[in-house]
Amino acid sequence: MRKIAATCALLALFILPSSVRLDANPRPGNTADFDSGWRFHLGDVAGGQDPQLDDSQWRALDLPHDWSIEGEFSEKNPATPGGGALPGGVGWYRKTFTLPASARGESVFVEFDGVYRNSEVWINGHYLGKRPYGYSSFEYELTPYANYGGQRNLIAVRVDNSQQPNSRWYSGSGIYRNVWLTTVDKIHVEHWGTYVTTPRVSDDAATVQIRTKVRNDSPNAQGVVLRTIVYDASGKPVARTESKAEAAQGAATEVSQELTLSRPALWSPESPYLYKAVSEIVRDGRVADRYETPFGVRYFVFDRERGFILNGKPLKIRGVCDHHDLGSLGAAVNTRAIERQLEMLKAMGVNALRTSHNPPAPELLDLCDHMGILVMDEAFDMWKKQKTDFDYHLDWDEWHRRDLEDMVLRDRNHPSVIIWSIGNEIVEQWGKDPSGGTIARELAGIVKGLDQTRPVTSACNDASTDNNIIQSGALDLVGINYSLNKIPDLPKMFPGQKFIGSETTSALATRGSYDMPSDVIRRWPVRWDQPFKDGNPDYSCSSYDNCSAPWGSTHEEGWKAVRKYDNFSGMFIWTGWDYLGEPTPYWWPARSSYFGIIDLAGFPKDAFYMYQSEWTKKPVLHLFPHWNWKPGQTVDVWAYFNTEEVELFLNGKSLGTRRKTGDDLHVMWRVPFEPGTLRAVARTGGKTVLTEEVRTAGKPARIVLTPDRGRIKADGSDLSFVTVKVVDENGTLVPSADNLVKFQLDGDGTIAGVDNGSQTSHEPFKADYRKAFHGMCLAIVRSKAKAGRITLRATSDGLRAASTVIEVR
Ligand code: GAL
Repeated sequence: MRKIAATCALLALFILPSSVRLDANPRPGNTADFDSGWRFHLGDVAGGQDPQLDDSQWRALDLPHDWSIEGEFSEKNPATPGGGALPGGVGWYRKTFTLPASARGESVFVEFDGVYRNSEVWINGHYLGKRPYGYSSFEYELTPYANYGGQRNLIAVRVDNSQQPNSRWYSGSGIYRNVWLTTVDKIHVEHWGTYVTTPRVSDDAATVQIRTKVRNDSPNAQGVVLRTIVYDASGKPVARTESKAEAAQGAATEVSQELTLSRPALWSPESPYLYKAVSEIVRDGRVADRYETPFGVRYFVFDRERGFILNGKPLKIRGVCDHHDLGSLGAAVNTRAIERQLEMLKAMGVNALRTSHNPPAPELLDLCDHMGILVMDEAFDMWKKQKTDFDYHLDWDEWHRRDLEDMVLRDRNHPSVIIWSIGNEIVEQWGKDPSGGTIARELAGIVKGLDQTRPVTSACNDASTDNNIIQSGALDLVGINYSLNKIPDLPKMFPGQKFIGSETTSALATRGSYDMPSDVIRRWPVRWDQPFKDGNPDYSCSSYDNCSAPWGSTHEEGWKAVRKYDNFSGMFIWTGWDYLGEPTPYWWPARSSYFGIIDLAGFPKDAFYMYQSEWTKKPVLHLFPHWNWKPGQTVDVWAYFNTEEVELFLNGKSLGTRRKTGDDLHVMWRVPFEPGTLRAVARTGGKTVLTEEVRTAGKPARIVLTPDRGRIKADGSDLSFVTVKVVDENGTLVPSADNLVKFQLDGDGTIAGVDNGSQTSHEPFKADYRKAFHGMCLAIVRSKAKAGRITLRATSDGLRAASTVIEVR
């Protein structure tokens, strides 16, 4: 979707006003989406790269594709429950394509945004290379081996994710990100060949410095003109410059240019204003290449006393960490699914994201640029010392320089990226290991060689003065994971340093589960690789924000610790969304995380509203838990709110008005249960601002379907996320409902995935049924490249069915 550009872009403006339009394709005219029409075979194939091999029996599919998510959960899968308990293995992809005769004499490249992992690529039987790291983007030149003028070309990709465990979370397997084919003049802007910075910014003017690498693969040195035009967000040209350059043959010549923007519009989370630099290489009087670089104008510092200062104003970083999976869609990149994740985080008040613990899909950064989300872009979860048997430590020596360079080169023009992280909880930080310092300095040097406009950090879970990485002096910004009780001591422990909570919290919750008393905090000891007997028999964690990993904190504890200190620039909560794998504190049968503030299906857990009440200006009132308990049972009733006070009523009788005192983030009433209606009234200055009711539900009676969007694009990848609720006769959600819901889809679309947010469900994600979990489940409807109407119908034994219509345009 990133590079569809021109034709669809205009369409998107009209059809999808709510959706972000991405325009990060550097060459709309010369780069084509190379995702469709692949053949796939799960398992190894001798000679899979042979152009003569008959692949007609292989499965036909379009990329991005993740074969693991299609598999069955099993404790025996080598990924282990820590990796999501889904299968890995070896897979082959092949695609046949042609190039026009006009491409002869041009340069042809194939670009992979990411393949997990150990990809090897061949064109017409010629080996192009391998790429072990599953999170790097890379390209190969096809020019010398390609056939032109309608003759057949065969590209083959072998993907090897058989050696597991190689990850502490679910990775996915396959060509799970987009692929692009670029055909361009022999003299062109090199891959990731522009670097835009704004060294001087004031209200009146911004200096834009653009360094462009002009690659010349023609037979001779050539005199060219590099013309750079800057367009504002409305598409109006606002600055231009031209430079003559001598493009040396067989090399990339760097051309440096400066432009001035008057009265620049600054980029910030509230106002993510984007400019676009268009570089044109003019050769013999014609434009040989046209290359676009979106960028933003903003300036920031991390200040020792005041924390993060953006465009001159202090801004607390209110961030989350997230892994890359998209729940039931697996790792297969889908722009709308990423956008939905970010939209929900923004609605919660989040202004920053950490791409834990690897470079993200390019679409994620495009979205963050457009939506105004600050990014900590992270390279690695380990260096030379392993965390799992077959992880990247095996590739470290050969690949770390290349992978880190490629991350910085690819991502350094994104205004959203404000921090480079060279690693998470790196083993070399501990003990008397001199390599911790040596590697940290080497990596920081690699980053600085390519970008000096952002600080380098590493996320350290040893917040001690013995920490080899912090000691090395390589970090501009010290990343502290957990250890929030040390915040007040940090400036004394590390004089002159600046700090960020690179990872905090690790609270645990299952949506809809509540353990009482709510004010007793459970910090269950975590035991990996063996049954966990101390937890709940149903493998749940309580949603009262009273459960956390022993090294972490509850949500409230975390935010209270961070908000107190101005010098502590902010936090990245572990995690925004639940993810597949790492089912701490449990193990099998659990297979996905409990850390998310939003569950795997995309339903907010209660803590979502605590953050929303603190982090947004919108009036918030959230009352919980549900109201189906045993008669006479004492129930803790909580409210998150940001008005002055809340009064609670049970069946019309007041149970008292509560105000938050001290550093409270919620209020509570201890209520003997009687069936009926709980009603909360939130007031400020005596005036009612919001009310919320929770009612005792009767028996499950019917299904209610609510699509997040009733209209989607006919582009074959757009999605509508349909929330399914099991309600009683009065429309009240039945909190215990686990009815099996079956889906039937009519029209040109597919069910891309189903889920219910349960961490222990072993039902398949690719199915037309799902059990409700605490009364809810989800069906994801995907468009085809055809306009029309899709009807989704949901049925369940003993319940009234429901249907919803999604327009596809
Ligand atoms: C951190 C780690 C994360 C995740 C988290 C769970 O130590 O960096 O990747 O494992 O713990 O609490």
